[in-house]
Amino acid sequence: MNRQQAATYICPVSGSTLQLDVSTAIVDEVIEGALRSNSADVSFPITDGIPDFTWPPVLLASDAQTRQSYEEMAQEYDRYAALPFITYRANEDDVREHMVDQLELRTDSKVLEIGCGTGRGAVHIARRLGKDGKLYLQEISHRLLTIAVQKLQAHSIAAEFSLANGSYLPFQDNFFDAAHHFGGINTFADIPRCLSELARVVKPGGKVVIGDEGLGPWLRDTEMGRVMTNSNPLLKYEPPLQSLPATATEVQLEYIMMGAFYVIEFRVAASPPQPDYHMQIPSARGGSHWTRYYGQLEGVSDEAKRLAHEARAKAGISMHDWLEKTVREAADKELNNKPS
Ligand SMILES: C[S@@+](CC[C@H](N)C(=O)[O-])C[C@H]1O[C@@H](n2cnc3c(N)ncnc32)[C@H](O)[C@@H]1O
Repeated sequence: MNRQQAATYICPVSGSTLQLDVSTAIVDEVIEGALRSNSADVSFPITDGIPDFTWPPVLLASDAQTRQSYEEMAQEYDRYAALPFITYRANEDDVREHMVDQLELRTDSKVLEIGCGTGRGAVHIARRLGKDGKLYLQEISHRLLTIAVQKLQAHSIAAEFSLANGSYLPFQDNFFDAAHHFGGINTFADIPRCLSELARVVKPGGKVVIGDEGLGPWLRDTEMGRVMTNSNPLLKYEPPLQSLPATATEVQLEYIMMGAFYVIEFRVAASPPQPDYHMQIPSARGGSHWTRYYGQLEGVSDEAKRLAHEARAKAGISMHDWLEKTVREAADKELNNKPS
């Protein structure tokens, strides 16, 4: 990691800027050191040129367990990673190229892949980037990331690597043009936080594409569903649509690889949806979506309600307009001590 790059990271805990402490450097390349957060009083080590932003220091159970199992099987990971593609008769390159298509990259895009594993997807993203593009690869397992570093170096692909929890990203808001993850999000300990983080670091208009195991609901009660779920219980996961942030727009859900994996793609909006809450609804009830939700008063007796309906019908106006007028007149009289 070079010094200029170090300056672009932020504290994944507080969002504040970080102070670079260098122990060993070769010209501009920082080999050993730390990035210190002033506001959160935490320090993130840099080892072999890779910053470690992992947060929280004691990972939640599911993240800790996942990390440990990937650390233990890192050397065999690439052998096992091919199996789902073989099982579901899919060409891995085609599957990955399809997801990269969904990212809508330009040659100058800045792209993040979280949980990048050994870099099997990263090589596909890198092919789409030109000299002005930049790829950031993030992982929670140190050993898998080390293999990714070696793999990308062997392909002469430049990338920025960091260790981090996908639910606590060390990047400023709107830093990336697109973000991607495949294969691990089901077991992330805090999926809603991860999806919010991805939407936070991607610019409005940019794409987020995530995928993982999750058998299509129509296949659960079939022979395929029963046999394959017996071998791989991860197929029982459902796409985390309910955990998407409110800024997710143009959301699309796709099932790939014979319906065994889901892919969710969405475009990041600048703000949550703002419908026309105040449009007047043409009906006897009247009012707007806003007044119907926020303007509710205490309930009245059945008789009072019947009288109100009769009076509003006689006045020929909506119930909203009649109540607005009647309540305002009564309140004005009361508040200004007007005789009735
Ligand atoms: C099945 S592997 C997929 C790796 C890679 N994306 C691929 O397509 O080959 C799941 C990956 O997610 C990573 N992972 C799991 N939990 C994570 C977390 N909380 N934050 C970041 N990465 C995580 C694992 O370390 C592992 O590399």
